[in-house]
Amino acid sequence: MTLSLQKDKIRFLLLEGVHDNALKVLNDAGYTNIEYIKSALDEAELIEKIKDAHFIGIRSRTQLTRKVLEAAEKLICVGCFCIGTNQVDLDAALELGIPVFNAPYSNTRSVAELVLAETIMLMRGIPEKNAVVHRGGWNKSAKDSYEVRGKTLGIVGYGSIGSQLSVLAESLGMKVIYHDVMTKLPLGNAVQVGSLDELLGQADVVTLHVPDLPNTRGMMGKEQFDKMKDGALFINAARGGCVVIDDLAQALESKKLLGAAIDVFPKEPKSADEEFISPLRKFDNVILTPHIGGSTQEAQANIGLEVAEKFVRYSDQGDTTSSVNFPNVAIPFADGTHRLLHIHQNVPGVLSQINAAFADDGINIIAQSMMTKGDVGYLVMDVDDNDSQKALARLKTIPQTIRVRVLF
Ligand SMILES: NC(=O)c1ccc[n+]([C@@H]2O[C@H](COP(=O)([O-])OP(=O)(O)OC[C@H]3O[C@@H](n4cnc5c(N)ncnc54)[C@H](O)[C@@H]3O)[C@@H](O)[C@H]2O)c1
Repeated sequence: MTLSLQKDKIRFLLLEGVHDNALKVLNDAGYTNIEYIKSALDEAELIEKIKDAHFIGIRSRTQLTRKVLEAAEKLICVGCFCIGTNQVDLDAALELGIPVFNAPYSNTRSVAELVLAETIMLMRGIPEKNAVVHRGGWNKSAKDSYEVRGKTLGIVGYGSIGSQLSVLAESLGMKVIYHDVMTKLPLGNAVQVGSLDELLGQADVVTLHVPDLPNTRGMMGKEQFDKMKDGALFINAARGGCVVIDDLAQALESKKLLGAAIDVFPKEPKSADEEFISPLRKFDNVILTPHIGGSTQEAQANIGLEVAEKFVRYSDQGDTTSSVNFPNVAIPFADGTHRLLHIHQNVPGVLSQINAAFADDGINIIAQSMMTKGDVGYLVMDVDDNDSQKALARLKTIPQTIRVRVLF
């Protein structure tokens, strides 16, 4: 069971040299008990260090397996200072009552800028011209070189990245159309079209910004490339599985498409030592980048802010909004109250037991919000500050309790 601690007793372990912004956010919020390590730790070192930590911040190299999480007796929260969370056993973390946060939107601008730059480069035929000059050639022709002004950009998926790209592209004089499964309010003069096919038939450049879902896997294959305009361009900086690469290669081979820019692939090398294999390697008119759409200094800085702010909101208020593995609960604070956080097994009757126990003790609940996810329920309750110790004692007696904490 975890009791409320003074802020200087709440221990943060930050690994893998997360951005300094994280330290600033934590310090500004009054958290000073921070161990900052520039590297990742091997499993034995990690198990030793994590024992005393209440919060751990990692990037992609630290493996938080079930074994490591079970050894982390005091751990109440994990922050992934990156986008992906597959380095953490999310189910184990949930069962242990540990919310996991990440920073899914810190690199939106970085991706949008890259796609915009690629649009201009592809329209001018620069990748091919650049390759020829590198080999000693000199192709000065304006054939197949165009300005982007007045051309139609077709954005598939009008979310954070797609909508930001839309604004940037319009500022260059492009006409923007988009397709999304939801009706989305257009920014600027962009126009939502009724279907993917409609977009494919109108766009000079098609760019994907959809999530990796069963219905987006393989969404661009031969049938879709055939529906694009002759000589159109194609960009994918979303997820590798969305495109059938052999069909894209065929569309480039036949000159149906004049160029492409691909940042994500169905199969990507796991490290710099592994060779990148793809039928796209042979095309000079294809920009190939190693999944770096979101990799900029600015994105790292934003990630430092975003995840550290989530740490502070969880520690100060019990707010789990946007946690990737945990029930999302947030309620505003009221003066004169103490907040209780109760993480429990999700079985029928827990809430009624708690409410009955509080009623027996004459504890008035001022606010209450509960959500469940899988086998775990998360209950946030505000009670009169004079009642919080009594309420905490009663919560500890509820048999399904995984963790309970009071915030002052
Ligand atoms: N290349 C990189 O380094 C990099 C970096 C960040 C994000 N990404 C990827 O970019 C993609 C978009 O990210 P985001 O932050 O804009 O996501 P988002 O969730 O904000 O937006 C996705 C949009 O796609 C729409 N959508 C879902 N299914 C669709 C379908 N079948 N057809 C049309 N629209 C559909 C959704 O309604 C939503 O509007 C994600 O796949 C993300 O993983 C890549």
